Amino acid sequence: AEQNRELRERLLQLKKERNAIILAHYYQRDEIQEVADFRGDSFLLAQKAAQTDADVIVFCGVHFMGESAKILAPNKTVIIPDERAGCPMADMVNVDGLRKLKAQHPNAKVVTYINSSAEIKAETDICCTSANAVRVVNSVDSDEIIWVPDKNLGHYVQQKTDKKMIIWEGYCNTHDMLTVKDVEEMRAKHPNAEFVVHPECRPEVVALGDFVGSTTAIIKYCKESDAKEFIVGTEDGTGYQLRLDSPDKTFHFATKYLVCPNMKVNNLKKLVKSLETMQPQIYVPEDVASKARLSLERMLQVK
Ligand code: 13P
Ligand code: SF4
Repeated sequence: AEQNRELRERLLQLKKERNAIILAHYYQRDEIQEVADFRGDSFLLAQKAAQTDADVIVFCGVHFMGESAKILAPNKTVIIPDERAGCPMADMVNVDGLRKLKAQHPNAKVVTYINSSAEIKAETDICCTSANAVRVVNSVDSDEIIWVPDKNLGHYVQQKTDKKMIIWEGYCNTHDMLTVKDVEEMRAKHPNAEFVVHPECRPEVVALGDFVGSTTAIIKYCKESDAKEFIVGTEDGTGYQLRLDSPDKTFHFATKYLVCPNMKVNNLKKLVKSLETMQPQIYVPEDVASKARLSLERMLQVK
């Protein structure tokens, strides 16, 4: 506790010196969410990165999030606490594979989940996050959509749109682990709880949800619902904001395995060090960034 207090003081000082802003995803460790200027889901954090007038953005999340921030704010310095914090789902799609698919479906538009590399975004018509996926797909002026990389979110969106979706086979290792059996066992233990679930979970698990949505949407739903108890089907870091917003309610994570190891690579010590050394920084080559930027900016414009 004493060490953390010192680290937090050092962080405040460095933030001022560098004119930096700290963005933290809801899946980050509590010690990071505590010191963030903004906590949020992927969508809110991308928006904050695009809007900030700070000189430095410290992005506490996984690599693609820092990269998206850099693409949206090319004149800012973007640093991340540890560059080994990647997203396995983002690595499940490659440029060659996507180009092949585009050649096979020349009339389709490419909608890419923000959980993807800058190179994939550069091959994309419009990006989306779990918060706006259905709206983004419906906004596209084509009946045919190539969807990368999350098959589970893709399946969820397909149920909510008339467009024909060609869905890539990627998935999130963390959310995809949750099974129907896990949820049924929790429901038996907590019969009064509502089940809230992220659409990165398997379709048969999502189908059990009393509510389905992005992390921000889940937090908002739990706050406003009349229920007092919830079974949560998303990453356990979300508990920080859930408990902050709804201190009188009880949250049971659906399993103890809903932990993204990549998100947890970051910690307060590494965060302070990154701002001290201004390393590691995110660089995106401008030829890639300029194309990727269009796909992200189109997403930010969808109402
Ligand atoms: P959201 O931030 O859109 O809820 O997505 C969850 C996620 O897996 C981020 O990596
Ligand atoms: Fe990637 Fe899943 Fe971790 Fe999000 S929770 S960063 S999608 S592995």
